[in-house]
Amino acid sequence: MAVTHFNPTCSKPRLHSSQLSFLSRTLPIHRHCSFAPLHRTQHARISCSVAPNEVQVPAVTTLDPKGKAECYGVFCLTYDLRAEEETRSWKKLINIAVSGAAGMIANHLLFKLASGEVFGPDQPVALKLLGSERSIQALEGVAMELEDSLFPLLREVSIGIDPYEVFQDAEWALLIGAKPRGPGMERADLLDINGQIYAAQGRALNAVASRNVKVIVVGNPCNTNALICLKNAPNIPAKNFHALTRLDENRAKCQLALKAGVFYDKVSNVTIWGNHSTTQVPDFLNAKIDGLPVKEVVKDHRWLEEEFTEKVQKRGGALIQKWGRSSAASTSVSIVDAIRSLVTPTPEGDWFSSGVYSNGNPYGIAEGIVFSMPCRSKGDGDYELVKDVIFDDYLRQRIKKTEAELLAEKRCVAHLTGEGIAVCDLPGDTMLPGEM
Ligand code: LMR
Repeated sequence: MAVTHFNPTCSKPRLHSSQLSFLSRTLPIHRHCSFAPLHRTQHARISCSVAPNEVQVPAVTTLDPKGKAECYGVFCLTYDLRAEEETRSWKKLINIAVSGAAGMIANHLLFKLASGEVFGPDQPVALKLLGSERSIQALEGVAMELEDSLFPLLREVSIGIDPYEVFQDAEWALLIGAKPRGPGMERADLLDINGQIYAAQGRALNAVASRNVKVIVVGNPCNTNALICLKNAPNIPAKNFHALTRLDENRAKCQLALKAGVFYDKVSNVTIWGNHSTTQVPDFLNAKIDGLPVKEVVKDHRWLEEEFTEKVQKRGGALIQKWGRSSAASTSVSIVDAIRSLVTPTPEGDWFSSGVYSNGNPYGIAEGIVFSMPCRSKGDGDYELVKDVIFDDYLRQRIKKTEAELLAEKRCVAHLTGEGIAVCDLPGDTMLPGEM
């Protein structure tokens, strides 16, 4: 039985972390409420709400016979956003689920999401944070820091380790959590280990998330993880799944700007084609600097084909050598960019890169893989592929190589996508950007 103690003072919640599977708090109106669930609440669902400007007497709830409770004590209190002048004009609260929420990338991202800089100053958000048993204590620390940040738009924070609980009604799922490749681990092993995680998360999204949830997969290998995830979520449109290649696009823009001696806001129309790996193709044929084709501005075509391309492909690894860990801040910025590209209309004539399901693409790229391509959005969360791009032999050849890699990855995870027996014939010379 789970018991919730209500403490009306401002003391810190006493959380028995190893015993918590899910807890939720509503922020920040009633910061004087705190709570202490003391006993095992495995798979407990806790929801928070408080009636207009008052704290209700907390109810003590226990697990139902299926091991699920609707809410616990003070977590059952309700806040009414229409009660206050400031919040009356706000949009309806959106649920954003984040996996790997105790990690470095999430630590940058969550505070951006909560501040309003991603979804706008009139968009209240609920953050649903997925961690692991190992990270639950750190996740409590994240939630405490969010609480201490006094973000007016942040209305709920929930933490948990069960994706079926955390993804409930999620309208955005930002899937960051993944295992890094350990010493002696084959790439096929990494695909399998992370693939299992993304298969499970796909099934959970399929079962409990909003039917129109938008999913951005960040955990590597992100294209194939996204493919596994979408194949395990047949009730969610495949078009809603993205693999993050926006970081690569940003890196490519930075390198082009540096070479041309311009500020990077002058660089546009940059596509990353293919896999978020060292086979990715940063497209300088269609890219523009100050509205002109890059090749007209950067006359050193050998640099474009060799140095530029390799620099972008291996930027993640170069960064790891400096930092001793993967990029986190710039990754979180690129997640923000990726979301904002879907929720704001794409500027006239421009586009953005995202790893999307390749079915029906107009470029002749193999179907059934998640492949980074140029997209445009009307700002409604959806996108369409850009048709007016050009190809030359160099670009085609490079695209073929990254396509072959993704097809090989797909064969290697067939057991996770429902497509039969896995056969791993991965090309030996390609790696994640972070591998050197
Ligand atoms: C990056 O591009 O920085 C990361 O994907 C690198 C990595 O392997 O973690």
